[in-house]
Amino acid sequence: MITDYSFPPGFLWGSATSAYQIEGSPFADGGGASIWHRFVHTPGLTADGCTGDIACDHYHRYKEDVALMRSLGLKAYRFSIAWARVLPEGTGRVNPGGLDFYDRLVDTLLEAGIEPLPTLYHWDLPAALDDRGGWLNPDVAAWFADYAEVMFRKLDGRARRWATLNEPWVVTDGGYLHGALAPGHRNLFEAPIASRNLMLAHGAAVQRYRAVGRHEIGIVVNLEPKHPASGSEPDLAATRRSDAYMNRQYLDPLFGLGCPEEMAEVFGPAWRDWTAEELALAAQPIDWLGVNYYTRGVMRADAASWPVGAAYVRQPGATYSETGWEVFEKGLEETLLWVKERYGNPPVYVTENGSAFFDPPTATGGRVRDPHRLDYLHRHLKAVHGAIRAGADVRGYMVWSLLDNLEWSLGFSKRFGIVHVDHESQARTPKDSARFYAQIVATNGSALAGDPHGLAETWPA
Ligand code: BGC
Repeated sequence: MITDYSFPPGFLWGSATSAYQIEGSPFADGGGASIWHRFVHTPGLTADGCTGDIACDHYHRYKEDVALMRSLGLKAYRFSIAWARVLPEGTGRVNPGGLDFYDRLVDTLLEAGIEPLPTLYHWDLPAALDDRGGWLNPDVAAWFADYAEVMFRKLDGRARRWATLNEPWVVTDGGYLHGALAPGHRNLFEAPIASRNLMLAHGAAVQRYRAVGRHEIGIVVNLEPKHPASGSEPDLAATRRSDAYMNRQYLDPLFGLGCPEEMAEVFGPAWRDWTAEELALAAQPIDWLGVNYYTRGVMRADAASWPVGAAYVRQPGATYSETGWEVFEKGLEETLLWVKERYGNPPVYVTENGSAFFDPPTATGGRVRDPHRLDYLHRHLKAVHGAIRAGADVRGYMVWSLLDNLEWSLGFSKRFGIVHVDHESQARTPKDSARFYAQIVATNGSALAGDPHGLAETWPA
């Protein structure tokens, strides 16, 4: 039995958010529209017509939010930069007002002793660039690198761990293949083009960083171990295709292994092999890998599930979150060890992990009790510790999310925050999961050995 859950010295404990999900006021101080602004303002595309016009009003409340993180003892904060705030047309003219917001945010974080971890792209492409083809335009890599350079020059003295993209798989699958996310396309032929251009943009930004930056840069991917529903050959093949599509599609080229051979099977006539030049650009050496983990997928062959031919199988007796994802903490350990084995043990940060569960809609006596989320975090943090014990080079963990925020097209109904947000009054209340997490951070993980729910009672100590 494990009794010592302390993490390596200097382990980076933090939380994560993204610009469109929390900031609000997209046009303040000269910002431009993003594809998400357009998407949510198209009738019928989001639950209850929710928008990010106000979101968590973080644009105006960032100081309060940083103070909140400080009160929880967090060491790091992963946030994203809204490209259209900084470059309202996506290229060319820099908007000083937008740049200034991130400048102030970073200073406020540093004053609070919290390390800023900026992500350059968390899904909110400037709408002006979408008008020029967005991620389908071969020029997008150069556009992205130019925008990245503006940010590097502004913040690299103070922000030392950058991420290029958040989850290229979701950008492509949701935005270009199934259409549930901005820009809402549903096109087999576009998806592999968008994927490739995303990875080329990533590579171009890394090259640019090597020219003008002085610290570290990486990329964030979402990973989900795929398990076969049975030992039958069709189920095994469906599982391999799903794994290639979601996990290896981005990581194999990134680590110089080329594109998985299953991609041609998945995309059929829409697939073309990457050129040697494209593969080389995508494989620029990175300093660290960000892994977002939420669940696993148990897969069976299903010809009707377009285009991968694989469907999720629900597990009897398992716990499912409000987004319909199985709680499966062993999958996080498995994923971290898979990355270690397959890609040569790169430095890894868990850049997102968390869960949406139903919470009481309002705080009572200053408390919001969220036992399921607390339990989820407890189990997953133990899994991270397990991976580290087994030799994975995991250097930090960012809980998703700091705040209840706009869960994209699902609106505000799915709450992922460790801090409750009353979307009427904008009042913030740390949930029990935040009280628990604060004590894990304060003890560098040791408190994982105790009763997790008891920890929520004894904070602040
Ligand atoms: C994304 C977040 C999102 C979360 C929960 C991740 O895929 O990076 O923006 O809110 O999952 O769905």
